[in-house]
Amino acid sequence: MPTDRSERTPTRRHVLGATAVVACGAALTGCAAGASTPGGVPPGVKGQVVAQAADIPVGGGKVISQWKIVITQPTAGVFKAFNATCPHRGCSVGQVADGIIRCPCHGSEFAADSGKCVKGPAESPLVEFALKVDNGGIVMV
Ligand code: FES
Repeated sequence: MPTDRSERTPTRRHVLGATAVVACGAALTGCAAGASTPGGVPPGVKGQVVAQAADIPVGGGKVISQWKIVITQPTAGVFKAFNATCPHRGCSVGQVADGIIRCPCHGSEFAADSGKCVKGPAESPLVEFALKVDNGGIVMV
């Protein structure tokens, strides 16, 4: 009977390695999936005014760090909200300009009108949240 524990019991390294393989395999299909569809907002933000519409530039956007949301205005009067957490490794996305949301960590880019991943290494879109504009305020719904 073997007494070497390493032959019978998976080590932390074995478990973490297997998890990484699954995550990478799942990620291989991500970017091709296209734009995200509106989903549920983070807890506590529903009904909150997260920004003023007048503060969101046309073609640009603004990261609301407090709520980990990025608000964009791809065309005049059209506002979008996305989860600001990059699907690659979890950094907060940063600059929004020229219709593109950029992640500063590894250079992924996402379309400001749909959240679609347009440049890797991220392989999936930003999750979109539903919003409404009420009295000039961007309200998460
Ligand atoms: S965490 Fe955003 S590109 Fe890597």
